[in-house]
Amino acid sequence: MLIFDRQVALKEHLKSISYPKTTIGFVPTMGALHQGHLSLLQESLQNNTITIISIFVNPTQFNNNEDLAKYPRTLESDVQKIKSLNESILVFAPKVDDIYEGKTISEHFDFDGLENQMEGAFRPGHFDGVGTIVKRLFEIIQPTNAYFGEKDFQQLQIVRKMVEKEQLPVNVVGCHIFRESNGLAMSSRNERLSAHEKQKSAIIYQTLLDAKAKFGTKSAENIKEWVANKFERETDFKLEYFQIADEATLLPCLRKSKNRKYRAFIAVFVNNIRLIDTISLN
Ligand code: PAF
Repeated sequence: MLIFDRQVALKEHLKSISYPKTTIGFVPTMGALHQGHLSLLQESLQNNTITIISIFVNPTQFNNNEDLAKYPRTLESDVQKIKSLNESILVFAPKVDDIYEGKTISEHFDFDGLENQMEGAFRPGHFDGVGTIVKRLFEIIQPTNAYFGEKDFQQLQIVRKMVEKEQLPVNVVGCHIFRESNGLAMSSRNERLSAHEKQKSAIIYQTLLDAKAKFGTKSAENIKEWVANKFERETDFKLEYFQIADEATLLPCLRKSKNRKYRAFIAVFVNNIRLIDTISLN
C-alpha cells in the first residue's frame, strides 16, 4: 500500500497513473478512522478508478488548543484499517509544514452566511480553517469526487458552497451517518469517551428522534424549549446548542414552510468532549 507524506511525491505519482478516463475519489479525514470513514472509502472505491484518503489533523480549524492537542492521532492503526479494506487505496498523511509551508493560518472565506450559524457561531474561525485545508487538498489531489459524511452537515454545505463559488471541478458527495448500535453517531472523538459515557450518549440521537417526531405538530421554538429543559436535568451533559434550521440556508426555522427542508442540529459536551449530530426532519 502506498503512503505519501509529501504533496510533491503524491502529485508525481498521480501524474504517472492518470489516464484520460481515470476518476479520482477522495476522502478527506483527520484520522482515528471508524466505520463511518470506511463507508466513505467504500463509496469511493465503487465509483472511481483511484481512491485517495488524506489523514491530517488540520490545526487551523481548531479554535481550542486543548481540543487540538487531545485529538486522537492513530496513523498506524488507521493504515491497518485501510489496508484490510483495500490495498489499492492511496494514503496522503502529510506533516503540517508540507501543507502550510511555515504559515499555519487560514484563508478568509465568505460562504454566504452559512459559516455564521451553529458550529460557526460557537467555533470562531473553524470554517475558514476547514475551507483552507479542503481547498488545498483539492488543489493537490484534483479529485473527481470528494466524499463527506452528513454528520458534519454544515461542513458539507460549506464545502458545496466553496466549490460553487470558486468553480472547483469537484463533485461533492454527501454520505449518510454511521451510528453505534445505541444510535450514537460515529466520530473520532468517541474514542475519548469511557464505555459508560458512550452508553449514556445515546441520549443525543434519542433527542433528535424525539424532535423529529414532535416536528409534525409542534413549532421549532417549542421543540427547542423542550430540548433545553431536558438537558437542564442531565447533569452529565452540557448542551451547547440545539437548532432547527433550513437545510439549504442553515438559518433557524422561525415558521415552517411546506416547500422547505429542515434539519435538527445538536452540539453537546460530555465530560469536556464535544459531540455533534443532526437529523433530517421532513
Ligand atoms: O471532517 C473532517 O474530518 C475535517 O473537517 C476535514 C474535512 C477532513 C478537514 O480537515
